[in-house]
Amino acid sequence: MRVTVYSCRPFDEKDLFEKLGREFGIELILCPDAPDEKNASLAKGSECIDILTSQMTAGLLKVFADYGVKYVTTRTIGYDHIDIKAAKELGLTVANAPYGPCGVADYTVMLLLMTIRRMKRILERTNIQDYTIKGIQGRELKDLTVGIIGTGRIGRTVLKDLSGFGCRLIAYDLYESAEVKESGVLYVTLEEMWRQADVISLHTPLTSENRHMINEKTISQMKDGVMIINTARGALIDSQALIAGIESGKIGGAGLDVVENEFELYYYDRKSDILNNRELAILRGFPNVTVSHHMAFYTDDCVETVVRDSLLGCKYFVEGKENPWEVQ
Ligand code: NAI
Repeated sequence: MRVTVYSCRPFDEKDLFEKLGREFGIELILCPDAPDEKNASLAKGSECIDILTSQMTAGLLKVFADYGVKYVTTRTIGYDHIDIKAAKELGLTVANAPYGPCGVADYTVMLLLMTIRRMKRILERTNIQDYTIKGIQGRELKDLTVGIIGTGRIGRTVLKDLSGFGCRLIAYDLYESAEVKESGVLYVTLEEMWRQADVISLHTPLTSENRHMINEKTISQMKDGVMIINTARGALIDSQALIAGIESGKIGGAGLDVVENEFELYYYDRKSDILNNRELAILRGFPNVTVSHHMAFYTDDCVETVVRDSLLGCKYFVEGKENPWEVQ
């Protein structure tokens, strides 16, 4: 069997793919670029393609289906970059490769602490030997109510991690978890979440229902000085509304590992380019907003897991075995 791997990073994925490909008896075509209509021909003769977070539109999926591809696996947890409906219509099976929640949870706690302690401004000053302290006073977690939206694998791990800090923890999810309730965390409505939380951290997938769940109206219902952490998906937040909230002082800070329209920017060296994402430029420029380029997942454990499980999923699919990673 043969798998065509797109966006294969030479510095951390290539050797792993080659080693595991040999181990699983899979012939691999490793392409460093994201899939597009030009390089789609590399998938001719492969039943499976293995991708990262590049946009898989209906048009592009059709090109792959026409080359005989039957299975698309993404080396990510989220799969909103794939047009699932179109994939289904084309008879393509889609799979993801979930990795353990600890790496993203660690990163979330780091961004949260950086945000409440104004670490961006502290580091900027230290770097230029400005050792003054005016304007960089922080807040203590024990005095804050932290609201977690989405109590799946990552949200639950963040709740566990934060339980040692002495903050009050509240949560919202479409489906309440017994484990979370037993730990003493209180589920609240979204209205109560906006009203009570000093810090809000997002951990849901992006769906058509929750796109821009943080918007002008919901921000207006939040506490003054609220801080927002997003390690889930950029489009959960309306960037324009976030910018307005920061400018008015309603929002006291943000830690954003993801932003709207990050595709084609993140993971590329674009330092000499004029970018077409004004919101990102504005958000990055605020002293109380820490932006990172979708890095929360990036640990040694995660890379090994996604490479291994994405390939194993291809193997199970081709061999007709039960495949735990299929999402449709
Ligand atoms: P999960 O599937 O275990 O949990 C998601 C939770 O969100 C579920 O409990 C679900 O009921 C809830 N949910 C879904 N729609 C909702 C809505 N409209 N309102 C409230 N709750 C809703 O997912 P997991 O593993 O915890 O990941 C969460 C998200 O984190 C992923 O979907 C992905 O977008 C993001 N992520 C980001 C990474 C990064 O590097 N920044 C890495 C990995 C995941």
